Amino acid sequence: MRIDIVTIFPEFFDALDISLLGRAREDGILDVTVHQLRDYTHDRHRTVDDKPYGGGAGMVMKPEPWGEALDAILGEAVPDVAGGVEGSPMVIFPSPAGEVFTQAMARELSGAEHLVFGCGRYEGIDQRVFEYAGSRASVRLVSLGDYVLNGGEVAVMAMIEAVGRLIPGVIGNPESLVEESHEDGLLEYPSYTKPSTWRGHEVPPVLIGGNHGAIATWRREAQLERTRRVRPDLLPPE
Ligand code: ADE
Repeated sequence: MRIDIVTIFPEFFDALDISLLGRAREDGILDVTVHQLRDYTHDRHRTVDDKPYGGGAGMVMKPEPWGEALDAILGEAVPDVAGGVEGSPMVIFPSPAGEVFTQAMARELSGAEHLVFGCGRYEGIDQRVFEYAGSRASVRLVSLGDYVLNGGEVAVMAMIEAVGRLIPGVIGNPESLVEESHEDGLLEYPSYTKPSTWRGHEVPPVLIGGNHGAIATWRREAQLERTRRVRPDLLPPE
């Protein structure tokens, strides 16, 4: 998968060299390029923001550097009018005003050939950038959750990790992807390892007994109990 990231803080993405995603990059499974938005400015101060039309607090990211950055990345890419033509890039702008990122979206994006992430800062990006990007590729505004970050970088790191680990070859044992939180709509069951007693806390005896049917039943029950208690919104209405 090709991933391009546009940001004024490329250092945030140094962490993509680490761990499983770092290995995936070395192995050529992930081809990540981080672009400094200021490289697409032409003034001495490399300005990327300006005051909002209509007044108000904060600054807005100017459209011109974004337009040039997107042109450089998208090149001659064909517009994706149908919203999903294979091989066409998907441009994602992290934003608290976007649709909420979920495991289902991570799985959908993991099938893409080319993702472009545009990290906004300040009060956001001039709205026309989204309109222009939409004329060149399919565009989504995506929120990590109902809270506000200082910019899109941390959200993009989270999305790339969630998407990247679903790409075949990134995680050594693909079975570990099956029984985790959100994959079957429930939270995952608790896990234990040796020793069986630790500081007075016991491992549930059923997990030590070797009865695989009983273990599966216990785990399912634990998933349901945890989901009911912590995230009842994930359960179907009764
Ligand atoms: N930028 C600022 N807040 C954000 C959020 N919650 N999700 C994605 N991008 C953001």
